[in-house]
Amino acid sequence: MGMQDFIHVKDVASVGEGKLVSVRGWVYRKREIGGKVFIVVRDSTGIVQAVVGKDNGDAFKKAEQLNIESSLVLRGYVKREPRAPGGFEIQVIDIPWSFVGWQFPINEDAAKADSEYLLDMRHLWVRSRRMQAVLKIRDTVFGAIHEWFRGNGYYEVQAPMFITSAVEGGSTLFEVNYFDSKAYLTQSSQFYLEALIFSLEKVYTVAPSFRAEKSRTRRHLTEFWHAEAEVAWAGLEDIFTVTENLISHVVKRVLERNLEELSILGRRTEPLENVKPPFPRVSYDEAIGILNRKGFDLKWGSDIGADEERALTLEFTQPIHLHHFPEQVKAFYHRNDPARPETTLSVDVLAPEGYGEVVGGGERIFDYDELVGKIRRFNLNPDDYQWYLDLRRYGSVPHAGFGLGVDRLVMWICGLDHIRDALPFPRDMRRLKP
Ligand code: 4AD
Ligand code: MG
Repeated sequence: MGMQDFIHVKDVASVGEGKLVSVRGWVYRKREIGGKVFIVVRDSTGIVQAVVGKDNGDAFKKAEQLNIESSLVLRGYVKREPRAPGGFEIQVIDIPWSFVGWQFPINEDAAKADSEYLLDMRHLWVRSRRMQAVLKIRDTVFGAIHEWFRGNGYYEVQAPMFITSAVEGGSTLFEVNYFDSKAYLTQSSQFYLEALIFSLEKVYTVAPSFRAEKSRTRRHLTEFWHAEAEVAWAGLEDIFTVTENLISHVVKRVLERNLEELSILGRRTEPLENVKPPFPRVSYDEAIGILNRKGFDLKWGSDIGADEERALTLEFTQPIHLHHFPEQVKAFYHRNDPARPETTLSVDVLAPEGYGEVVGGGERIFDYDELVGKIRRFNLNPDDYQWYLDLRRYGSVPHAGFGLGVDRLVMWICGLDHIRDALPFPRDMRRLKP
């Protein structure tokens, strides 16, 4: 039998009562009642109930032996059955192929009880309906990001993962042996994108970034997926527009394609339906005011951490643009606002419902002397940034860009408690397996 002879589980209902169908998949649930084996078969599209009667000797024997997650191919007639998921079941006539295998090590109790166990078993847990739903939404998110950039005149580019100098500060660099010298894993492709705008003007990349995050939080990975963009002749105002349009597009696509997956995850859709440009803009100064009124003892100049972000986002129903951070809380490359030099032309986009930062970006310093001065002020060594400084020596232009943490975006869209559930094989301080 070729591929065309099989249908997907989600199509069983639409082929209609009485039709003979073949499906392929895995055993999701199995029980034996009244001389019948009921098998809930799962494939990439959903679940369907199949029934094997005792009168069907050969298939019945095979069905009885199946374990949870055994694979099988079955053939049978479609019958309306209001009690079955989806309203139809398959009355099996034969099971041309099955692989019984070992007892599946994850049962429902384990799934509820122990999240560490499920992380150890991630190579098998990716089959679960929850993970399947997250992975489908994640697929939509990545697809929509590419779609948006390509539809808006950006070139997709690729930057190296092995690098020699920090973009986001030295403390979270992973060092690797590189033949007879040392290299680091990239924290951000930003500097390479900055070089590429002089060739292509509007560029983006979707790639891993690496950070040696020593704190264990709900929103930090050591390896995360980073969608970054850089635009020549652009400023902070453009980054507001680009990020709110990009994020709104992604959310819209998820609402178009993944209502079923959102429902499997128990995710309310109202907060997602609210997401439309423009997003409210909140200056750092205003944020400090709001937070002080909410009881946070926060002075001007201090960083806004996860707890503060959480409190702030609960004041709004949309994602917000938090902008104009003080110089000292943002990396050296951020351009200071000429009108208020103690602040930068920077923005973080915070996702609502307590989720917080999903984007960081803003204008870059494009003047050579200003950049060298700031590198020194930050106690860094201009020698480490020679090629980056070259970009300010030859045809420099005002420019701006940003980085979007895709796993964080997926985490919020799916309404997950922990970022590690937003991707199939998470990496954090304690986890390198599976
Ligand atoms: O705010 P960050 O550090 O900004 C940059 O890396 C810029 N160089 C990006 C740019 O302008 N091209 O990181 C950008 C985003 C954050 O807002 C967050 O969503 C995500 O990357 N991120 C992480 N996601 C998961 N785990 C981590 N450890 C992350 N660190 C940053
Ligand atoms: Mg940031």
